[in-house]
Amino acid sequence: MKSTFLWGVATAANQCEGAWQEGGKGISTADILYDGTAGEYPENLKIYPERYYTYHTGNDFYHRYKEDIALMKEMGIKCFRMSIAWTRIYPKGIEDKPNEEGLAFYDRVFDELKKQGIEPLVTISHYEMPLYLVQAYGGWKHRCVIDHYVKYAKTILDRFHEKVNYWITFNEMNFISTIPFCAGGLLIRGKDNKEQDMFQGAHHQLVAHALVTAYSHGSYPDLKIGCMVCGTLAYAQTPNPQDALEQLECDRETYYYTDVFVRGRYPNYADSFLKKKQVVLQKQEGDDEILAKGKVDFLAFSYYFTRIAPINPDNDPDLTDNERMLGKLENPYLQRTQWGWVIDPVGFRLALNKFYDRYQIPLFVTENGLGARDVLCEDKRIHDDYRIDYLRQHIRELKKAVEIDGVDVMGYTSWSGIDLVSATTAQITKRYGHIYVDYDDQGNGTGNRFKKDSFAWYKRVIETNGEQL
Ligand code: BG6
Repeated sequence: MKSTFLWGVATAANQCEGAWQEGGKGISTADILYDGTAGEYPENLKIYPERYYTYHTGNDFYHRYKEDIALMKEMGIKCFRMSIAWTRIYPKGIEDKPNEEGLAFYDRVFDELKKQGIEPLVTISHYEMPLYLVQAYGGWKHRCVIDHYVKYAKTILDRFHEKVNYWITFNEMNFISTIPFCAGGLLIRGKDNKEQDMFQGAHHQLVAHALVTAYSHGSYPDLKIGCMVCGTLAYAQTPNPQDALEQLECDRETYYYTDVFVRGRYPNYADSFLKKKQVVLQKQEGDDEILAKGKVDFLAFSYYFTRIAPINPDNDPDLTDNERMLGKLENPYLQRTQWGWVIDPVGFRLALNKFYDRYQIPLFVTENGLGARDVLCEDKRIHDDYRIDYLRQHIRELKKAVEIDGVDVMGYTSWSGIDLVSATTAQITKRYGHIYVDYDDQGNGTGNRFKKDSFAWYKRVIETNGEQL
């Protein structure tokens, strides 16, 4: 591994900060979710006082960031992936002037990271947006959201360009068609042609991404800016050539986005792909030119699982949440996590190779990790050998991709370094961290931090640049 390899951890503002009504913050789409993406979005888009919202406290990073960054330093990380909460900067999204208190909070976080010698990697939009933009415009399906996002992104680039070298415009953009409210603020329950809104929303995100990327390249040419997908590539069900076609089609649900990020234009199959979904894209004159100027410096992806194509072989209109995300067909060669996600380290090497073969630009693995029910023992230790095992197997495949296959990877940030709220279930007890946070899903606990066994293990991996796994 190169000596500059960015080993680190990844988080997101909405899942860790809490303090949902402090510092002038507005209400975000994440703030109204009490069961994660499972219920898509609550009736009337409102907050129900009788319910407990894990997102409102997160892991309390907003108040404990200094302690957390000190622990990260102790673990030896070189890179901390985090996101900025749009609603801390523009509470409703539509204001002319940003909220100085929100900007000042991130100044303090970046200064603390710098003090500890840790490089920030900032996601501009990670699974949240001002709720107001959803209520007023229906989220990303409305073209005006592009302008609001670009204003927000320019504000934070202008403010933080000297403190943050690495940027990602959107988290897992391809998941706008899997979890449309969470990833795009889309309200599509009961709609006949849901995909029309999903892919129109995706087009607006792609244009917004390209405008911001071009702005960053023009104003701050030293910064590196990328975009991200959930890198869930598929296997064919059998050697039947027809199944290989299904696989190709399934992978295009991901490549459709990465092709635009890297090549700056929609791929050759875009028309047939959209036609099959009965989507008629509303483009404006000049959109293609905008996309052409928005090519990324690196391609970021998260890696958790693989799928078997097709995702929904019987066209079942009522897929469960897991089926919608993971697909219905089971892979007999793979085991699953406690939440039913398949564990496929070799699939990770495949994804790295497939993306690099296709694009030949640096990749950044911005998420990978195991959600599990950890136990805090009497002696305040957490024996997460299953997490060590999971990460070891994945990092081993990462090393093979880099050292044997010649894939260019800039860094690897494990999800999530410290326990935080789960995006799909809103549980904090679906734990991913190397640092345990003493909260349960009802807010009981001290919020205190404890090092898990995987803390010392990951520290050694980083110290030895991946030699000692
Ligand atoms: C990624 C998201 O898809 O998966 C994160 O970018 C998310 O926000 C992570 O937390 C793990 O998923 P979950 O649902 O287990 O939290």
